[in-house]
Amino acid sequence: MADQAFVTLATNDSYARGAMVLGKSLRNHNTSRKLVALIGPQVSEPCQSVLKRIYDEVRMVDVLDSGDTAHLAMMKRPDLGVTFTKLHCWTLTHYSKCVFMDADTLVLSNIDELFDREELSAAPDPGWPDCFNSGVFVFCPSMETYGKLLQYCTEHGSFDGGDQGVLNGFFSNWATADISKHLPFIYNLSSIAIYTYLPAFKQYGGNAKVVHFLGKTKPWSYTFDPKAKRITGSTHEATAHPTFLLDWWSLFSSAVVPMLQEQYGDQPFHSGCVEGESFPSHAQALQPQLSSEERKEKWEQGQADYMGMDSFDNIKRKLDTFLK
Ligand code: UDP
Ligand code: GLC
Ligand code: MN
Repeated sequence: MADQAFVTLATNDSYARGAMVLGKSLRNHNTSRKLVALIGPQVSEPCQSVLKRIYDEVRMVDVLDSGDTAHLAMMKRPDLGVTFTKLHCWTLTHYSKCVFMDADTLVLSNIDELFDREELSAAPDPGWPDCFNSGVFVFCPSMETYGKLLQYCTEHGSFDGGDQGVLNGFFSNWATADISKHLPFIYNLSSIAIYTYLPAFKQYGGNAKVVHFLGKTKPWSYTFDPKAKRITGSTHEATAHPTFLLDWWSLFSSAVVPMLQEQYGDQPFHSGCVEGESFPSHAQALQPQLSSEERKEKWEQGQADYMGMDSFDNIKRKLDTFLK
């Protein structure tokens, strides 16, 4: 097991915060595997130090960029060219098998059973289910595969400008070849699925093991009042389920912020926590919520909060904002 690891990537301090929360969530659920963070040179010293306290290995890699502005523009995500950097994970050949996880994922229970799967195992992408989503995948590090992937990039590029396009092109028989390589959706529950198939989310969402805050607005785009347990996003729409966002912020504010504070010392830094502040009226305030554990229990007992947090109107309102 010492030769198996969870791997993530952060090229800047924002995604580094995501990686910190992800690492903490894996530790909290007692993973027996190693934790590895790939980082870019832009990640600041204090953030590197915190990552080193959470992860077994923090490795600096060259930032690769697809430079493919046309395809990235189609996805409305000009920032995702750097996700080519993810391909570096195949160079971690001191491990025999790894699970890659985006820095915007959060683990809700132990997922070590993923190491029973083979390369390339992943969950369907909610936007195009014959493609896998590259936010969570099982792979086997190999310099040979790494070389072939880079060669594939040069010859074919990426249909989405990011790593997911390349990986789906390279592992092109994923959709049809071997069903055991299809991870259940609960290992990569994209927040977007909540809006696109609400009844299924109501039925199965309580089983989620990994939530993926896919899309432009990330948990760290919001602010949080730890005392009131309120999340606000004055300039951003809420694209994720409030409960999952609250899980992310609870972990960030309780476990990560103190470590950051220690590293920054007297230097100012913005934690995103806005304790005791009053919120501007245009801010989108989300009410205190149950934790996902409590919520799952209720769900299993058939007590979904249909009138409140789980009400159709409540979620439809979010859907409408989202579609605007
Ligand atoms: N990433 C990064 N720096 C960036 C953009 C992305 O380190 O500027 C990494 C990070 O691990 C992130 C992953 O690449 O989770 C994929 O990007 P993102 O999660 O934003 O894509 P989405 O899941 O929203 O499509
Ligand atoms: C996706 C995936 C993400 C990937 C991006 C670019 O939406 O969630 O992991 O980096 O596409 O291909
Ligand atoms: Mn992601």
